[in-house]
Amino acid sequence: VEDLDAFDRAMSSNDPAMVIVTTAVRGRRAGCLVGFHAQCSIEPRRYVVWLSKANHTYGVALAAERFAVHHLVRGDRDLAELFGGTSGHDVDKFERCAWTDDGRGVPLLARCPNRFTARRVALLEEGSDHACIVVEPDRAEGGGFVPLRLGELSGISPGHAAEDRQVLTPERA
Ligand SMILES: Cc1cc2nc3c(=O)[nH]c(=O)nc-3n(C[C@H](O)[C@H](O)[C@H](O)COP(=O)(O)O)c2cc1C
Repeated sequence: VEDLDAFDRAMSSNDPAMVIVTTAVRGRRAGCLVGFHAQCSIEPRRYVVWLSKANHTYGVALAAERFAVHHLVRGDRDLAELFGGTSGHDVDKFERCAWTDDGRGVPLLARCPNRFTARRVALLEEGSDHACIVVEPDRAEGGGFVPLRLGELSGISPGHAAEDRQVLTPERA
């Protein structure tokens, strides 16, 4: 493999806006900080998030039908730290922040009024360390905010390193 430092530099130049993705299944709640995400269809509106296979959130997401995506704004660094720097394998994040139930079990973070809920339409697992989850929004709130960006989150080390993933696909094991 060629030296791909330029790839990494370009990705950090993009300085993505950060979100927190939450989900739940049968009362098991999960959520993590996500930098890999984007709108991926206009009509119907669809969105994609990539979840690290190492994460507690991924294990719950495999069985979950519904998700919430919360857009972070300046001032949300502490929430980013909670959801990106600790793991549901070790702590209950939802004991450490205010949230409500969306009516169907998915936790909505009280601090994040810019958000949408969505149902899963596809999951793509092709041997990367992150899996792709495509969702279709069914309820959205907020908009018109200044996002919290990756570049403002230096110093937060992920609750799970991507290499922690338990299940390796045969071609990369
Ligand atoms: C700046 C930053 C960006 C991250 N981006 C993602 C991402 O796009 N997808 C993901 O699944 N995890 C991402 N993570 C890692 C998880 O948020 C982190 O490992 C978290 O502690 C996992 O929590 P969980 O085990 O409760 O799911 C990121 C972490 C940081 C600090």
